[in-house]
Amino acid sequence: MTTAQQAPTLFDSAYYQDPYTVYDWLRVNDPVHQFRFPVGDVPMVFLSRYDDVKELLSDQRFSNDGEAWGSEAFKKSGMIFGADTLIGRILTVLDPPDHTRVRKLAMGAFTPRRAATWKEPVERIVEEALDRLAKSDSPDVMDFASKIPADVTGEILGFPLERFGDMLHAIERAFHADPSNPNNEAEVAAAFEEIVIYGRELIVEKRRNPSDDLTSVFIQARDGEDQLTEDELVSMVALMIMAGIDTTRNLIGSAVLALLDHPDQRRLLVEKPEHTPTAVEEFLRYDGAFCIGLFRLAKEDLDFRGVHIPAGTPVVAGLQSGNHDPEKFTDPRRLDITRTGTRHLALGHGLHNCMGAALARLETGAAVPALLKRFPNMRLAVPREEILFEENWLLRSLPSLPVLL
Ligand code: HEM
Repeated sequence: MTTAQQAPTLFDSAYYQDPYTVYDWLRVNDPVHQFRFPVGDVPMVFLSRYDDVKELLSDQRFSNDGEAWGSEAFKKSGMIFGADTLIGRILTVLDPPDHTRVRKLAMGAFTPRRAATWKEPVERIVEEALDRLAKSDSPDVMDFASKIPADVTGEILGFPLERFGDMLHAIERAFHADPSNPNNEAEVAAAFEEIVIYGRELIVEKRRNPSDDLTSVFIQARDGEDQLTEDELVSMVALMIMAGIDTTRNLIGSAVLALLDHPDQRRLLVEKPEHTPTAVEEFLRYDGAFCIGLFRLAKEDLDFRGVHIPAGTPVVAGLQSGNHDPEKFTDPRRLDITRTGTRHLALGHGLHNCMGAALARLETGAAVPALLKRFPNMRLAVPREEILFEENWLLRSLPSLPVLL
């Protein structure tokens, strides 16, 4: 096996603009790659092959719970979201049996009948966002892409706009903090505290005025005598916002960029919108919103594909690397909106797979074709090389995608 020193670097500036070249190298030369994560200099392992990523995500020897199972270096790194607040106990970090119980209660809210009721608000919000884009002096696809999941989430959770705006602002400060700011840690902690305070207020208000929205359904969710506790309710609402907005925004943005880069596929989608369902899956595979899954922590000293992994080591599931594994996807760098076959990993796999997948698909499947239809001559307003991804290790995010309509 080739040594790690020769490996191209994960999570440096070049990686963020083109992670796929790094992944291609790792899959061939060092599929269970040991490296030091730039934040906190934490020793970690990166898995890049499709089969390994999938196996990791259903391997019970790993936990999502960094506070319980992470190495000291990981705990000190400050990378555990909302540590010391109830956000630190959201569904994504729970292990069974707690995970099983909370997920089952929450999943009761995501019935196909309820998902069907989201179609109308999603389509209306897309049309409103298109109208605003048409009037803009400097149209930017990312403004369009941001507005859709933010408005949709606020509406289906049933929140008053102003309070929801405050919550979004606190989440923005918690997740897009500036590490070079000397008060960063205190400010991030304060932002997480605020998320909790707003969440509590919203739940109190919703208890007084229940409706047919998702928050009311979470409040009423029961399994026999079992119900979500007050803290679980607050963290579930915060999780819907944290997990559902930036991700969907980024997917819509990356999908539009991919179509601008592949005019034949853009033409095909406009001429044959019936390809939308496979197109959305292909957008997720091609450049999905999560580059990597959330950290998995080894609960014991173990061997994975012959590599020794000490207890506490964070192991990274390279979701997008798996999605470009040529063993599973023919010609993976090509966008093919009619592609079928192997299921991508962009929405996760196993216990923690994406709970909001139906909503993410609905929003992207409404937003992208509608944008192409409304603005058939849309093109980039700047040279292609000026379109840069944010240096964000978890999310694949375009800060801006300026276009001429
Ligand atoms: C394009 C949009 C989206 C993408 C790419 C995405 C991706 C993912 C992935 C990869 C995971 C698993 C993480 C892991 O195992 O490490 C996940 C989990 C989750 N997602 Fe999504 N997601 C999207 C949209 C949404 C939306 C719209 C919602 C809610 C309305 C949502 C709610 C959740 C929740 C609650 C979990 C945690 C499930 C659990 O831990 O059991 N996601 N998502």
